[in-house]
Amino acid sequence: MNSLIDPVELIDGSVLLHLGDGCDLELPYLWLRDNCPCDDCRVPQTQEKRFILASVAADIAPTEVAIKDQSLSLVWPDDHPTAYDLNSLRALIQTDRKPQQPWPKNFSPQTYSWDLFLHSSAVAIDALEEFMRHGVIVITDAPQEPETLEQLAPMIGPIRELLFDRIHNVSVEGHVYNIAHTSLGLPPHNDFASYSFPPSVQALHMLHNEVAGGESIVVDGWAVAEQLRNDHPDYFQTLCDFAVPFREFDDNNETYAVEPMIRCDSEGNIINLRFSNQLMQTINPQQPGIREFYRAYHELCLRVTDPQYKSTFRLEGGQIILVAAHRVLHAREAFTPTGKRHLQDAYFELDNIANKLVWLKRQRDQQHEH
Ligand SMILES: [Fe+2]
Ligand SMILES: [Zn+2]
Repeated sequence: MNSLIDPVELIDGSVLLHLGDGCDLELPYLWLRDNCPCDDCRVPQTQEKRFILASVAADIAPTEVAIKDQSLSLVWPDDHPTAYDLNSLRALIQTDRKPQQPWPKNFSPQTYSWDLFLHSSAVAIDALEEFMRHGVIVITDAPQEPETLEQLAPMIGPIRELLFDRIHNVSVEGHVYNIAHTSLGLPPHNDFASYSFPPSVQALHMLHNEVAGGESIVVDGWAVAEQLRNDHPDYFQTLCDFAVPFREFDDNNETYAVEPMIRCDSEGNIINLRFSNQLMQTINPQQPGIREFYRAYHELCLRVTDPQYKSTFRLEGGQIILVAAHRVLHAREAFTPTGKRHLQDAYFELDNIANKLVWLKRQRDQQHEH
Protein backbone atom coordinates (compact mmCIF):
# COMPACT_ATOMS: atom_id res chain seq x y z
CA MET A 1 0.00 0.00 0.00
CA ASN A 2 1.63 3.23 -1.14
CA SER A 3 -1.24 5.58 -0.43
CA LEU A 4 -0.67 8.72 1.61
CA ILE A 5 -3.41 7.97 4.14
CA ASP A 6 -2.76 5.25 6.65
CA PRO A 7 -4.49 2.15 5.22
CA VAL A 8 -5.57 0.96 8.69
CA GLU A 9 -7.25 2.87 11.49
CA LEU A 10 -8.64 1.60 14.77
CA ILE A 11 -12.14 2.84 15.61
CA ASP A 12 -14.44 1.79 18.41
CA GLY A 13 -13.90 -1.99 18.48
CA SER A 14 -13.18 -2.28 14.76
CA VAL A 15 -10.39 -2.02 12.25
CA LEU A 16 -11.21 0.45 9.49
CA LEU A 17 -9.43 -0.65 6.37
CA HIS A 18 -8.98 1.68 3.37
CA LEU A 19 -8.73 -0.62 0.37
CA GLY A 20 -8.33 2.16 -2.20
CA ASP A 21 -10.81 3.52 -4.77
CA GLY A 22 -12.89 4.90 -1.90
CA CYS A 23 -13.59 1.40 -0.66
CA ASP A 24 -13.54 1.30 3.14
CA LEU A 25 -14.23 -1.80 5.15
CA GLU A 26 -15.11 -1.80 8.83
CA LEU A 27 -14.09 -5.08 10.44
CA PRO A 28 -15.20 -5.61 14.08
CA TYR A 29 -12.55 -7.21 16.32
CA LEU A 30 -14.81 -10.20 17.02
CA TRP A 31 -15.32 -10.70 13.27
CA LEU A 32 -11.57 -10.55 12.74
CA ARG A 33 -10.89 -13.07 15.48
CA ASP A 34 -13.77 -15.38 14.44
CA ASN A 35 -12.76 -15.66 10.78
CA CYS A 36 -9.03 -16.29 11.29
CA PRO A 37 -8.01 -18.46 8.31
CA CYS A 38 -5.05 -20.18 9.99
CA ASP A 39 -4.70 -23.93 10.30
CA ASP A 40 -5.18 -23.83 14.06
CA CYS A 41 -8.49 -22.03 13.73
CA ARG A 42 -9.75 -24.18 10.83
CA VAL A 43 -9.96 -27.86 10.03
CA PRO A 44 -7.30 -27.79 7.30
CA GLN A 45 -8.82 -30.61 5.21
CA THR A 46 -12.32 -29.07 5.03
CA GLN A 47 -11.78 -25.35 5.70
CA GLU A 48 -14.50 -25.55 8.35
CA LYS A 49 -14.17 -23.23 11.31
CA ARG A 50 -12.86 -24.90 14.45
CA PHE A 51 -12.21 -21.78 16.55
CA ILE A 52 -15.32 -20.81 18.53
CA LEU A 53 -15.97 -17.32 19.89
CA ALA A 54 -16.73 -18.62 23.38
CA SER A 55 -12.96 -19.11 23.85
CA VAL A 56 -12.28 -15.34 23.88
CA ALA A 57 -13.70 -12.32 25.73
CA ALA A 58 -16.43 -10.24 24.06
CA ASP A 59 -14.20 -7.15 24.32
CA ILE A 60 -11.15 -8.79 22.77
CA ALA A 61 -8.88 -6.33 20.92
CA PRO A 62 -5.73 -6.98 18.88
CA THR A 63 -2.39 -5.93 20.38
CA GLU A 64 -0.90 -5.27 16.92
CA VAL A 65 -2.50 -4.32 13.59
CA ALA A 66 -0.51 -3.71 10.41
CA ILE A 67 -0.52 -4.13 6.64
CA LYS A 68 2.32 -6.45 5.54
CA ASP A 69 2.83 -7.96 2.08
CA GLN A 70 -0.73 -7.34 0.83
CA SER A 71 -2.24 -8.76 3.96
CA LEU A 72 -3.84 -7.42 7.10
CA SER A 73 -1.89 -8.85 9.98
CA LEU A 74 -3.03 -8.90 13.60
CA VAL A 75 -1.76 -10.29 16.86
CA TRP A 76 -4.21 -11.17 19.65
CA PRO A 77 -3.59 -10.86 23.45
CA ASP A 78 -2.64 -14.58 23.67
CA ASP A 79 -0.05 -13.97 20.88
CA HIS A 80 -2.18 -15.82 18.31
CA PRO A 81 -1.39 -14.32 14.88
CA THR A 82 -4.04 -13.77 12.20
CA ALA A 83 -3.42 -12.70 8.59
CA TYR A 84 -6.03 -11.82 5.97
CA ASP A 85 -5.09 -11.56 2.33
CA LEU A 86 -6.36 -8.14 1.16
CA ASN A 87 -7.77 -9.59 -2.05
CA SER A 88 -9.82 -12.09 -0.09
CA LEU A 89 -11.26 -9.18 1.94
CA ARG A 90 -12.05 -7.26 -1.26
CA ALA A 91 -13.81 -10.32 -2.64
CA LEU A 92 -16.19 -10.32 0.32
CA ILE A 93 -17.79 -7.03 -0.65
CA GLN A 94 -18.74 -8.02 -4.20
CA THR A 95 -22.47 -8.32 -3.67
CA ASP A 96 -24.27 -11.27 -5.17
CA ARG A 97 -27.19 -10.37 -7.37
CA LYS A 98 -30.35 -12.39 -6.85
CA PRO A 99 -30.85 -14.86 -9.69
CA GLN A 100 -34.65 -14.37 -9.72
CA GLN A 101 -36.15 -12.03 -12.29
CA PRO A 102 -39.75 -11.02 -12.99
CA TRP A 103 -41.50 -12.57 -15.99
CA PRO A 104 -41.52 -10.49 -19.16
CA LYS A 105 -44.90 -9.63 -20.69
CA ASN A 106 -46.65 -12.60 -22.35
CA PHE A 107 -44.17 -14.97 -20.75
CA SER A 108 -44.37 -18.63 -21.52
CA PRO A 109 -41.94 -21.19 -20.09
CA GLN A 110 -38.80 -22.10 -22.05
CA THR A 111 -38.65 -25.70 -23.26
CA TYR A 112 -35.68 -28.11 -23.16
CA SER A 113 -35.56 -31.64 -24.52
CA TRP A 114 -35.32 -34.50 -22.03
CA ASP A 115 -32.22 -36.09 -23.57
CA LEU A 116 -30.23 -32.86 -23.79
CA PHE A 117 -31.31 -31.73 -20.34
CA LEU A 118 -30.01 -34.95 -18.82
CA HIS A 119 -26.95 -35.51 -21.00
CA SER A 120 -25.58 -32.15 -22.15
CA SER A 121 -24.17 -30.08 -19.33
CA ALA A 122 -24.32 -26.94 -21.53
CA VAL A 123 -28.07 -27.41 -22.00
CA ALA A 124 -28.53 -28.29 -18.33
CA ILE A 125 -26.72 -25.08 -17.31
CA ASP A 126 -28.95 -23.01 -19.63
CA ALA A 127 -32.08 -24.74 -18.38
CA LEU A 128 -31.23 -24.48 -14.69
CA GLU A 129 -30.20 -20.83 -15.04
CA GLU A 130 -33.55 -20.14 -16.70
CA PHE A 131 -35.25 -22.10 -13.93
CA MET A 132 -33.57 -20.03 -11.21
CA ARG A 133 -34.44 -16.82 -13.12
CA HIS A 134 -38.12 -17.37 -13.88
CA GLY A 135 -39.02 -20.28 -11.60
CA VAL A 136 -40.42 -22.52 -14.35
CA ILE A 137 -39.27 -24.53 -17.38
CA VAL A 138 -40.86 -27.27 -19.47
CA ILE A 139 -39.01 -30.45 -20.42
CA THR A 140 -40.24 -32.07 -23.64
CA ASP A 141 -39.88 -35.53 -25.23
CA ALA A 142 -39.68 -37.33 -21.91
CA PRO A 143 -40.57 -41.04 -21.74
CA GLN A 144 -44.30 -41.62 -21.25
CA GLU A 145 -43.64 -44.32 -18.67
CA PRO A 146 -44.65 -44.26 -15.01
CA GLU A 147 -41.87 -43.31 -12.56
CA THR A 148 -39.92 -41.42 -15.26
CA LEU A 149 -39.45 -38.60 -12.74
CA GLU A 150 -37.03 -40.85 -10.83
CA GLN A 151 -34.61 -40.31 -13.72
CA LEU A 152 -34.47 -36.56 -13.03
CA ALA A 153 -32.87 -37.18 -9.64
CA PRO A 154 -29.24 -37.30 -10.85
CA MET A 155 -29.69 -33.78 -12.29
CA ILE A 156 -32.02 -32.04 -9.84
CA GLY A 157 -32.38 -34.52 -6.99
CA PRO A 158 -32.60 -36.17 -4.66
CA ILE A 159 -36.38 -36.54 -4.60
CA ARG A 160 -37.98 -34.90 -1.56
CA GLU A 161 -40.30 -37.57 -0.24
CA LEU A 162 -43.58 -36.58 1.39
CA LEU A 163 -46.43 -38.57 2.84
CA PHE A 164 -48.95 -40.31 0.54
CA ASP A 165 -46.45 -41.40 -2.15
CA ARG A 166 -42.92 -40.99 -3.42
CA ILE A 167 -44.23 -40.40 -6.95
CA HIS A 168 -47.78 -39.04 -6.77
CA ASN A 169 -50.39 -40.05 -9.34
CA VAL A 170 -52.96 -37.56 -10.57
CA SER A 171 -55.80 -39.04 -12.59
CA VAL A 172 -59.54 -39.47 -12.18
CA GLU A 173 -59.09 -43.25 -11.94
CA GLY A 174 -56.85 -43.67 -8.89
CA HIS A 175 -56.90 -42.86 -5.19
CA VAL A 176 -58.95 -39.68 -4.58
CA TYR A 177 -57.72 -37.54 -1.67
CA ASN A 178 -57.45 -34.20 -3.44
CA ILE A 179 -59.47 -32.06 -5.88
CA ALA A 180 -56.71 -32.77 -8.44
CA HIS A 181 -58.08 -36.31 -8.71
CA THR A 182 -61.33 -35.01 -10.20
CA SER A 183 -61.96 -33.32 -13.55
CA LEU A 184 -62.74 -29.98 -11.86
CA GLY A 185 -60.72 -26.87 -12.58
CA LEU A 186 -57.96 -26.21 -10.04
CA PRO A 187 -57.22 -22.65 -8.98
CA PRO A 188 -53.56 -21.63 -8.75
CA HIS A 189 -51.87 -23.25 -5.76
CA ASN A 190 -48.69 -24.80 -4.56
CA ASP A 191 -48.71 -28.36 -3.24
CA PHE A 192 -48.37 -29.43 0.37
CA ALA A 193 -49.19 -26.11 2.01
CA SER A 194 -49.90 -28.57 4.83
CA TYR A 195 -46.16 -28.94 5.53
CA SER A 196 -44.38 -26.29 7.59
CA PHE A 197 -41.63 -26.38 4.93
CA PRO A 198 -43.42 -27.35 1.71
CA PRO A 199 -41.34 -28.83 -1.11
CA SER A 200 -39.60 -25.98 -2.93
CA VAL A 201 -39.57 -27.65 -6.37
CA GLN A 202 -42.28 -29.69 -8.07
CA ALA A 203 -42.11 -31.67 -11.29
CA LEU A 204 -45.44 -32.39 -13.03
CA HIS A 205 -45.03 -35.11 -15.64
CA MET A 206 -47.85 -35.62 -18.12
CA LEU A 207 -47.84 -39.25 -19.24
CA HIS A 208 -51.00 -39.09 -21.33
CA ASN A 209 -53.31 -36.23 -22.15
CA GLU A 210 -56.18 -37.30 -24.38
CA VAL A 211 -58.95 -35.17 -22.88
CA ALA A 212 -60.66 -32.01 -24.03
CA GLY A 213 -59.68 -29.03 -21.89
CA GLY A 214 -57.47 -29.20 -18.82
CA GLU A 215 -55.00 -26.54 -20.01
CA SER A 216 -52.09 -26.01 -17.62
CA ILE A 217 -51.53 -22.65 -15.98
CA VAL A 218 -48.55 -21.24 -14.08
CA VAL A 219 -48.63 -18.01 -12.06
CA ASP A 220 -45.71 -15.94 -10.79
CA GLY A 221 -46.81 -15.83 -7.16
CA TRP A 222 -43.99 -13.51 -6.14
CA ALA A 223 -45.02 -10.95 -8.78
CA VAL A 224 -48.56 -11.11 -7.38
CA ALA A 225 -47.32 -10.63 -3.81
CA GLU A 226 -44.88 -7.86 -4.76
CA GLN A 227 -47.61 -5.90 -6.55
CA LEU A 228 -49.88 -6.39 -3.53
CA ARG A 229 -47.13 -5.01 -1.26
CA ASN A 230 -46.89 -2.01 -3.56
CA ASP A 231 -50.63 -1.33 -3.74
CA HIS A 232 -51.72 -2.37 -0.23
CA PRO A 233 -48.78 -2.55 2.19
CA ASP A 234 -51.21 -3.17 5.08
CA TYR A 235 -52.74 -6.24 3.37
CA PHE A 236 -49.26 -7.52 2.60
CA GLN A 237 -48.18 -7.18 6.24
CA THR A 238 -51.34 -8.93 7.43
CA LEU A 239 -50.61 -11.89 5.14
CA CYS A 240 -47.04 -12.04 6.53
CA ASP A 241 -48.29 -12.07 10.13
CA PHE A 242 -51.55 -14.01 10.22
CA ALA A 243 -51.14 -17.79 10.53
CA VAL A 244 -53.53 -19.99 8.55
CA PRO A 245 -54.18 -23.73 8.99
CA PHE A 246 -53.71 -26.10 6.01
CA ARG A 247 -54.46 -29.81 5.97
CA GLU A 248 -54.18 -32.69 3.51
CA PHE A 249 -55.19 -36.17 4.61
CA ASP A 250 -56.62 -39.53 3.68
CA ASP A 251 -57.33 -42.73 5.64
CA ASN A 252 -53.62 -43.40 6.18
CA ASN A 253 -51.98 -39.98 6.15
CA GLU A 254 -52.34 -36.73 8.03
CA THR A 255 -50.46 -33.53 7.19
CA TYR A 256 -51.17 -30.23 8.92
CA ALA A 257 -49.38 -26.89 9.24
CA VAL A 258 -50.31 -23.45 10.52
CA GLU A 259 -48.32 -20.78 8.70
CA PRO A 260 -48.76 -17.30 7.19
CA MET A 261 -49.33 -17.11 3.43
CA ILE A 262 -46.37 -14.84 2.73
CA ARG A 263 -42.88 -15.20 4.14
CA CYS A 264 -39.99 -12.76 3.66
CA ASP A 265 -36.30 -13.07 4.43
CA SER A 266 -34.47 -10.75 6.84
CA GLU A 267 -34.07 -8.15 4.06
CA GLY A 268 -37.79 -8.16 3.23
CA ASN A 269 -37.47 -10.20 0.01
CA ILE A 270 -40.44 -12.51 -0.56
CA ILE A 271 -39.29 -16.12 -0.20
CA ASN A 272 -42.54 -18.04 -0.08
CA LEU A 273 -46.13 -17.56 -1.18
CA ARG A 274 -48.23 -20.35 0.32
CA PHE A 275 -51.55 -20.54 -1.49
CA SER A 276 -53.96 -23.45 -1.54
CA ASN A 277 -57.67 -22.77 -1.56
CA GLN A 278 -58.31 -26.51 -1.38
CA LEU A 279 -56.10 -27.28 1.63
CA MET A 280 -56.90 -24.17 3.67
CA GLN A 281 -58.92 -25.03 6.80
CA THR A 282 -61.60 -23.09 8.65
CA ILE A 283 -59.91 -20.51 10.85
CA ASN A 284 -60.99 -20.06 14.46
CA PRO A 285 -63.30 -17.02 14.10
CA GLN A 286 -61.97 -15.62 17.37
CA GLN A 287 -58.35 -15.54 16.10
CA PRO A 288 -57.29 -11.89 16.56
CA GLY A 289 -57.09 -10.03 13.25
CA ILE A 290 -59.43 -12.34 11.32
CA ARG A 291 -61.42 -9.46 9.80
CA GLU A 292 -58.25 -7.81 8.47
CA PHE A 293 -56.96 -11.18 7.29
CA TYR A 294 -60.08 -11.93 5.28
CA ARG A 295 -60.01 -8.50 3.62
CA ALA A 296 -56.35 -9.01 2.63
CA TYR A 297 -56.95 -12.62 1.57
CA HIS A 298 -59.85 -11.57 -0.67
CA GLU A 299 -57.55 -9.15 -2.46
CA LEU A 300 -54.84 -11.83 -2.78
CA CYS A 301 -57.41 -14.28 -4.27
CA LEU A 302 -58.48 -11.68 -6.85
CA ARG A 303 -54.88 -11.18 -7.90
CA VAL A 304 -53.78 -14.82 -7.89
CA THR A 305 -56.58 -15.58 -10.37
CA ASP A 306 -55.99 -12.41 -12.46
CA PRO A 307 -54.99 -13.32 -16.07
CA GLN A 308 -52.17 -10.74 -16.09
CA TYR A 309 -49.97 -12.96 -13.88
CA LYS A 310 -50.58 -16.28 -15.57
CA SER A 311 -49.22 -18.25 -18.49
CA THR A 312 -51.55 -20.88 -20.02
CA PHE A 313 -50.54 -23.77 -22.26
CA ARG A 314 -51.47 -27.36 -22.97
CA LEU A 315 -49.18 -29.95 -21.41
CA GLU A 316 -48.95 -32.90 -23.79
CA GLY A 317 -47.99 -36.48 -23.00
CA GLY A 318 -44.21 -36.65 -22.52
CA GLN A 319 -43.90 -33.11 -21.16
CA ILE A 320 -42.83 -32.10 -17.68
CA ILE A 321 -43.38 -28.76 -15.96
CA LEU A 322 -40.72 -27.95 -13.39
CA VAL A 323 -41.70 -25.17 -10.96
CA ALA A 324 -39.91 -23.40 -8.13
CA ALA A 325 -42.87 -24.10 -5.93
CA HIS A 326 -42.38 -21.46 -3.24
CA ARG A 327 -42.69 -18.89 -6.04
CA VAL A 328 -44.68 -20.30 -8.96
CA LEU A 329 -48.24 -21.55 -8.47
CA HIS A 330 -49.75 -24.11 -10.83
CA ALA A 331 -53.35 -24.57 -11.91
CA ARG A 332 -55.38 -26.40 -14.49
CA GLU A 333 -58.63 -25.74 -16.27
CA ALA A 334 -61.54 -28.17 -15.95
CA PHE A 335 -61.59 -31.00 -18.48
CA THR A 336 -64.03 -33.49 -19.92
CA PRO A 337 -62.76 -36.99 -19.12
CA THR A 338 -63.38 -38.32 -22.63
CA GLY A 339 -59.97 -40.04 -22.76
CA LYS A 340 -56.94 -40.77 -20.64
CA ARG A 341 -55.28 -38.05 -18.56
CA HIS A 342 -52.49 -39.23 -16.30
CA LEU A 343 -50.02 -36.96 -14.53
CA GLN A 344 -47.33 -37.85 -12.02
CA ASP A 345 -45.78 -35.46 -9.51
CA ALA A 346 -42.49 -35.61 -7.66
CA TYR A 347 -40.89 -33.04 -5.42
CA PHE A 348 -37.34 -31.74 -5.13
CA GLU A 349 -35.53 -28.92 -3.30
CA LEU A 350 -34.37 -25.63 -4.81
CA ASP A 351 -31.15 -25.59 -2.73
CA ASN A 352 -30.04 -28.79 -4.43
CA ILE A 353 -30.72 -27.32 -7.88
CA ALA A 354 -28.95 -24.05 -7.08
CA ASN A 355 -25.94 -26.00 -5.83
CA LYS A 356 -25.98 -28.38 -8.80
CA LEU A 357 -25.85 -25.34 -11.07
CA VAL A 358 -22.81 -23.97 -9.24
CA TRP A 359 -21.10 -27.36 -9.54
CA LEU A 360 -21.95 -27.73 -13.28
CA LYS A 361 -20.51 -24.27 -14.01
CA ARG A 362 -17.40 -25.04 -12.00
CA GLN A 363 -16.92 -28.25 -14.05
CA ARG A 364 -17.40 -26.29 -17.29
CA ASP A 365 -14.91 -23.60 -16.26
CA GLN A 366 -12.31 -26.19 -15.24
CA GLN A 367 -12.66 -27.89 -18.63
CA HIS A 368 -12.11 -24.56 -20.38
CA GLU A 369 -8.93 -24.01 -18.39
CA HIS A 370 -7.37 -27.34 -19.45
FE1 LIG B 1 -51.02 -29.37 -7.41
ZN1 LIG C 1 -5.97 -18.53 13.81
